[in-house]
Amino acid sequence: MIDSQSPQGSVVIVGAGTQGRRLAYMWSSRGGLVYLVDLNERQLAEGVRYVQQLRAEKEHRANWGDVRTATPDSLEPILLDSWLVVECVPENLPLKQKVLAQLDKLAPESTIIASNSSSYGIGEIIEGLGLKCRKRLLSAHCSIEIMGHPESDPSLVSLLFDQCEKHGFSPFRVRQSSIGYIYNRIWAAIKRETLLALSEGICEPQEIDAIFKDVLKTPKGPCEQMDIVGLDVVLDIEKHYAEARRGLPNEPREYLRKMIERGDLGVKSGQGFYKYKKTHNGYH
Ligand SMILES: NC(=O)c1ccc[n+]([C@@H]2O[C@H](COP(=O)([O-])OP(=O)(O)OC[C@H]3O[C@@H](n4cnc5c(N)ncnc54)[C@H](O)[C@@H]3O)[C@@H](O)[C@H]2O)c1
Repeated sequence: MIDSQSPQGSVVIVGAGTQGRRLAYMWSSRGGLVYLVDLNERQLAEGVRYVQQLRAEKEHRANWGDVRTATPDSLEPILLDSWLVVECVPENLPLKQKVLAQLDKLAPESTIIASNSSSYGIGEIIEGLGLKCRKRLLSAHCSIEIMGHPESDPSLVSLLFDQCEKHGFSPFRVRQSSIGYIYNRIWAAIKRETLLALSEGICEPQEIDAIFKDVLKTPKGPCEQMDIVGLDVVLDIEKHYAEARRGLPNEPREYLRKMIERGDLGVKSGQGFYKYKKTHNGYH
């Protein structure tokens, strides 16, 4: 039984990439212990450096908790003392299914298991997996959009929602299963139309970003934002929408594929719609 006011134990994040390291920073901001778990030692080292850098940039002192690193082969003992584990592996359904099935097998039944998937709802991921305890599986996209499935325990949805709020996120509850949750559906349409316009050659990325920021007064335009997310991740997400819904245009995916074939993945590879400079801590 988890204490609904102050759950005891650590938060485990599986996947130390773009999202996993951001979540490690946030979930360690109130003194809690966070484990970052990844197959790749370099990702772990860069993840910890990223957390340290964000902490150093923060003006106010927070009660920072430890961020420790581990590889998947040591998951079992780590999970024994966790109240939450979040999978943050790439947007690939068979991989997410494999990781969630492993987490369900290894984690005590009191541990909430959440998926950070951008477009696969938790119900869709776990269908047919024969898990031992389905009621503790939830979707928690960026710890902002919290979504259950028909068998999720409502008290765990509320607990995760409250804890996300306490850790500085601004969560929303998605009331029905939805591919892409709430925000991502809107964002998917913006990305798709941006890529379609680029594929038609009607404008350059700089122009799309400039007009978007000028009209909507947002700090970043769609191309800048896609570069931050990673163009391989954007393609995986769009492929899932295209599989789930008929009639989506193919051109946006083709446009992304060509960029990815050239090695242009966005900020993480130093080149996407824009070029980035290499620093001691990755590209900026
Ligand atoms: N990039 C974003 O801004 C963003 C935003 C919202 C949601 N998401 C979602 O978060 C998830 C992760 O995306 P990302 O951009 O962080 O991906 P990423 O490619 O940057 O990182 C994924 C990490 O998972 C690791 N990994 C792969 N298989 C693993 C395994 N079996 N066990 C442990 N680690 C493993 C990889 O080594 C890598 O470090 C995806 O579902 C994505 O859709 C990403």
